[in-house]
Amino acid sequence: MKKIAVLTSGGDAPGMNAAIRAVVRTAVFHDMEVLGVFQGYQGLIKGDFKRLHVRSVAKILGRGGTILKSARCMDFHDLEGRKRAHINLVEANIDGLVVIGGNGTFTGAMKFGRETGFPVVGLPGTIDNDLSGSDSTIGFDTAINTVIDAVDKIRDTADSHNRLFFVEVMGRDSGFIALKSGIATGAVAVMTPEMGMSIDDLVAVLHAGEQSNKTSSIVIVAEGDPNGGAYEIAKRVKEKTDTYETRITVLGHLQRGGSPSCFDRVLASRLGVAAVEALRQGHNDVMAGVIDDKIELTPFEIAISTKSRINEDEVRIARILSI
Ligand code: F6P
Repeated sequence: MKKIAVLTSGGDAPGMNAAIRAVVRTAVFHDMEVLGVFQGYQGLIKGDFKRLHVRSVAKILGRGGTILKSARCMDFHDLEGRKRAHINLVEANIDGLVVIGGNGTFTGAMKFGRETGFPVVGLPGTIDNDLSGSDSTIGFDTAINTVIDAVDKIRDTADSHNRLFFVEVMGRDSGFIALKSGIATGAVAVMTPEMGMSIDDLVAVLHAGEQSNKTSSIVIVAEGDPNGGAYEIAKRVKEKTDTYETRITVLGHLQRGGSPSCFDRVLASRLGVAAVEALRQGHNDVMAGVIDDKIELTPFEIAISTKSRINEDEVRIARILSI
């Protein structure tokens, strides 16, 4: 393998730049050439490639976002788009591809690799942490620390006014951000797609908190909770009880930005090295991840279909400590 390409796709995540840097430097270390592909699969279809050198990735280790830009590309869902992407890779003499992203990215990579036989290795880059094959995804640690910082501030004002706050965090299909940050901020309740808490259960928990003299309460809501987002849940609680003075905060995209934490920088660096070395060893159709502090390669199909499960012990801890 003499020449590889790297791209970032889907929702950006802090640490993607650290991963790009690691991929580029590992490739150069092994005497390979690297091309950066701009705007994810869109750039693959358009042939938007640029040679990256060791110094092209200097001083990006601590920067949020992605220097290669990202996109959610509809054209890559079509066979025609994937064929065009393959032609561009072959014409540029590229021997292997590293994709950094989440579920959608790996679904595209899997189809593309199987249709064309082109070697593709993935790195888990998403704040959602909703992939199997890595204990943590790149960006998750930074995102939960951003949430903690915001919720601690909300707690100050909530407590000053004896208010109940509903704080909505990201996680379209998963509650990893909600659960971890709920434990770390002492939330009275955490609502996630996996935990299935009803509005009646929530009201009972709030009343119990009031009985035990809680002066302020924070409910963390994952955006994908089946009861609705924070606004909908707050409205439904209000219909059942008017005991609380409530406020709502939707943290939104601020969770995706910022300088990556030490954990995410190191994870991205380890996985960037692992992905390039996996390609060199002939691996294909796999995602590099860290499980129990060891690098593991997991087939894309498993990484995207066996969604990692919410930690039941953490669910229990959240419930016990919120009384
Ligand atoms: O996939 C990561 C994620 O941050 C989800 O948690 C969120 O629902 C989604 O991206 C938002 O995507 P967009 O930036 O395209 O609105």
